Amino acid sequence: MTQDRTQAQEAILLVGGKGTRLRPLTVNTPKPMVPAAGVPFLTHQLARARAAGVEHIVLATSYLAEVFEPHFGDGSSMGLHLEYVTEEEPLGTGGAIRNVASRLRSGSDDPVLIFNGDILTGLDIRGLVTTHARSGADVSLHLTRVEDPRAFGLVPTDEHGRVTAFLEKPQTPEEIVTDQINAGAYVFRRSVIDSIPAGRPVSVERETFPDLLATGAHLQGMVDSTYWLDLGTPHAFVRGSADLVLGRAPSPAVPGRCGDRLVLPTATVAADAKLTGGTVVGAGAVIGAGARVSGSTILDGAVVAAGAVVTDSLVGARARVGERTVLSHAVIGDDAVIGADNELRDGVRVWCEATLPAGSIRFSSDQ
Ligand code: GTP
Repeated sequence: MTQDRTQAQEAILLVGGKGTRLRPLTVNTPKPMVPAAGVPFLTHQLARARAAGVEHIVLATSYLAEVFEPHFGDGSSMGLHLEYVTEEEPLGTGGAIRNVASRLRSGSDDPVLIFNGDILTGLDIRGLVTTHARSGADVSLHLTRVEDPRAFGLVPTDEHGRVTAFLEKPQTPEEIVTDQINAGAYVFRRSVIDSIPAGRPVSVERETFPDLLATGAHLQGMVDSTYWLDLGTPHAFVRGSADLVLGRAPSPAVPGRCGDRLVLPTATVAADAKLTGGTVVGAGAVIGAGARVSGSTILDGAVVAAGAVVTDSLVGARARVGERTVLSHAVIGDDAVIGADNELRDGVRVWCEATLPAGSIRFSSDQ
């Protein structure tokens, strides 16, 4: 199949790896299936790709693969054709891409989109493909700018946007030569995918891209400073979910209108409870009288009892937050029970199914 090269019809979504860093919050749920704005996170990526004209998507995974197919099926309900490929052992990002090459239908010069499965972004996907076609690159990368690049590999470019190097995380201020980082979305010329070594772990950032540069290949960067968030931590997940609800992170898959809150059908919210800041209340969840919930995700079946105050926190499925309890930047595992009159703050994580008796923990003084 040879196609219009300013339009990618195929994509690979990388949703495997060493495991989900959201454990133990959602014990058996791989990160792409954790709800963000009321639907499994992956739904947003699939819907955005579809909106950009992609028709065929291969999900490359290596763990808990069996949860994807029952939910998304053949993709036809989203207007997509979905295929699933499971690695026996994680093959790394490059190895996973190579491992699905036989499922691609594109001709050797055609563009194939590749997305990391744990990134929430407003990237102009068509724009990336157009940049790729115009520059004639072998691989094009979405680059984003970050304020503090120390935690990331850096990707400097020349004045034409051509990538000049892939640098490991900078250790000293002198090594911070750019604020541009790899944002986890690429367009590969199909033939480049076929040239990745098969059957062994390969990292695109540490092996494929540097090797391509060394052999004189053309790697083009497109800096797009749109919304971008790495959902590597539960707190980032809560932020991303709220931003989807607020409309800051664009997705056609948000069920309902964007606004201050998203309350899924069958949730029960007391008339005087206050939900703000992109809060999501999952199916069957209950928010009690006078409770105030801001910027938080309350998963299915959870209970936030009367008078509780929950800010920028994640309350796991079927968990219970007792009366007048205060949560701020907290993560409460599935089925955990937090008794009344507790105060939990600043990154605290409560294990799934744990029980905290009433009045056990506070941060504020006794005065
Ligand atoms: P490497 O580049 O292979 O070393 O991986 P990394 O650890 O730098 O990748 P990262 O953890 O940033 O993951 C990027 C995306 O690739 C995420 O969406 C992961 O789910 C996915 N991913 C990472 N490793 C694998 C893998 O071995 N197999 C598959 N299918 N996906 C992976």
